[in-house]
Amino acid sequence: MTLKYLYAAILTAGTALAGHAAQAAGDLNLICAADVVICEQMKADFEKVHDINVSMVRLSSGETYAKIRAEARNPKTDLWWGGTGDPHLQAASEGLTLEYKSALLDQLQDWAKKQAESSGYRTVGVYAGALGWGYNTDIFTAKGFKEPKCWADLLAPEYKGEIQIANPNSSGTAYTALASLVQIMGEDQAFDYLKKLNANVSQYTKSGSAPVKAAARGETAIGIVFMHDAAAQTAEGFPIKSVAPCEGTGYEIGSMSIVKGAKNLDNAKAWYDWALQPEVQSRMKDAKSFQLPSNKTAEVPKEAPRFEEIKLIDYDFKTYGDPVTRKALLERWDREISANAN
Ligand code: F6P
Repeated sequence: MTLKYLYAAILTAGTALAGHAAQAAGDLNLICAADVVICEQMKADFEKVHDINVSMVRLSSGETYAKIRAEARNPKTDLWWGGTGDPHLQAASEGLTLEYKSALLDQLQDWAKKQAESSGYRTVGVYAGALGWGYNTDIFTAKGFKEPKCWADLLAPEYKGEIQIANPNSSGTAYTALASLVQIMGEDQAFDYLKKLNANVSQYTKSGSAPVKAAARGETAIGIVFMHDAAAQTAEGFPIKSVAPCEGTGYEIGSMSIVKGAKNLDNAKAWYDWALQPEVQSRMKDAKSFQLPSNKTAEVPKEAPRFEEIKLIDYDFKTYGDPVTRKALLERWDREISANAN
């Protein structure tokens, strides 16, 4: 080989290697629909073990669904991690997310596998948690309030202006509350209940956990949230007590989906498989994310509200994650509740 050819060969090999390295490094555009602290932790942990740069945006569950739907023709997001399962199911049934079967599926709890099966493997369960509320014990003592143990108790006139809950259009937590009440009471009675509750609600927040963060800071007495979000505030040292409603309550299967048309598909799959690993899920508690992990061998945080101790309804994910049902309930909420909000 002449010197000229040797030089050309080295150049070609170098370019090929550089090209490969760039591909391996790559990017991942992630929407994280859980609490921002776990979102940041997951991003940092993933970047430590993969040569992939994660651009992460934190949005609420309903907002994420709306963004993915709006971008369907030209997806800017590769992967949607976390957030309640209903909007993931809605996206799945609208063909907005991609079928993917992780090799780790068999390691998951039945509720997580069922979530995958019922969506044609377009989403999968990553954690679960029950709905309830947290209240500020200092405010309760100061105002002489009695602990509200049941959904019905939240209608007491003494709580006027003392309750916060999120808006179910943006928040998966609040949609879970809406769908749970419909399943517990029947639709008309649930809307009747929500109209009465409206008199006590000071604010419908965008994010689901905001109400109990406000309660922790003493800005409101009660926040209707997932119980693990109330437990997180207690663990932070705030005077927050959690309640599981006596009539029964709904729960979420926090989910994960790959966006159809993802530009960084291999990297999305790398995150997907990584996020189902027991070690990764066991780390969630370090961010005070106290949901129940979907991998059977992941550590269940001691602070996690246990399903065995809560009266859970048999939440109908298929129906309430269906586009027609979700859209109809949200429209009715806008007409009958939002329009009359304080
Ligand atoms: O804060 C964590 C969390 O409650 C998750 O368990 C849940 O999936 C998500 O937030 C719901 O957030 P939002 O109600 O804002 O959609």
